[in-house]
Amino acid sequence: MHAEPSRSDAWLVARNVSRQFGGLKAVDDVSLTLEREAVHAVIGTNGAGKSTLINVLSGEIAPTGGSVTLLGQDITRMSQPRRAQAGLGRSYQRNTIFPSFSVLENARLCAQARLQRPWDWWSPAARCADSTAAAHAALEQAGLSAHAQQQAGALSHGQKRQLEIAMCLATAPKVLLLDEPLAGMGAEETERMLELLAHLKPRHAILLVEHDMDAVFRIADRITVMVNGRMLASGSPGEVRANPEVQAAYLGEHV
Ligand SMILES: Nc1ncnc2c1ncn2[C@@H]1O[C@H](COP(=O)(O)OP(=O)(O)O)[C@@H](O)[C@H]1O
Ligand SMILES: [Mg+2]
Repeated sequence: MHAEPSRSDAWLVARNVSRQFGGLKAVDDVSLTLEREAVHAVIGTNGAGKSTLINVLSGEIAPTGGSVTLLGQDITRMSQPRRAQAGLGRSYQRNTIFPSFSVLENARLCAQARLQRPWDWWSPAARCADSTAAAHAALEQAGLSAHAQQQAGALSHGQKRQLEIAMCLATAPKVLLLDEPLAGMGAEETERMLELLAHLKPRHAILLVEHDMDAVFRIADRITVMVNGRMLASGSPGEVRANPEVQAAYLGEHV
């Protein structure tokens, strides 16, 4: 058994979260804790409910049950933009960049969305300088500084996924929800992304949805396995690997 993480290390806590679509329980009574300086992988076959879980945690869709706290604050009914301002960042399973804008502009738009203040209408220039600085810092972290002025649509697939992480970082999140950031990547691009995630880990709590089991077992500190919306197992990589139910239902010959 694992000790409960101390409250201050539990940056995001989901308790008994559910989401139904009509009669379909896409997410069914899922509880998990994202701790600082840790990567928590969520794995499961297509349709298991992983993206729906991220959508509920990020505030894009409302849960039909359960609660979510972020940095000790109940955010269950908080809008997605307010969650972003409170320190929650996410990336999407499908590409969401503006291809005709520069790499820097893409990151800057995200930074601007966070820095926007209703009472700050008289200082657009200062806000612009702040968001440009935040965008440059995010590109630097994501390893894309050299591509800042390039058109985003001209980036390689792997660089586009890096840009999506940069766009998320531009909002200065503490908790990162990443939906399949390695999808469609070659070996070299995968390595670069894993290095980036390892680099981000010390300052963030990370939820990683991923199908590449080699990558998951290399980088994850905790793993939750979902089947038909439910949690089949959750624990350390060693515990999950040794779980006979997980092996039968999902991992099979992967481990
Ligand atoms: N907006 C929606 N309306 C109705 N059903 C949905 C919606 N989003 C997802 N689903 C269904 O919920 C289930 C879980 O989907 P999803 O969360 O995308 O799974 P995963 O990301 O694990 O592949 C699937 O059966 C999917 O068809
Ligand atoms: Mg998905």
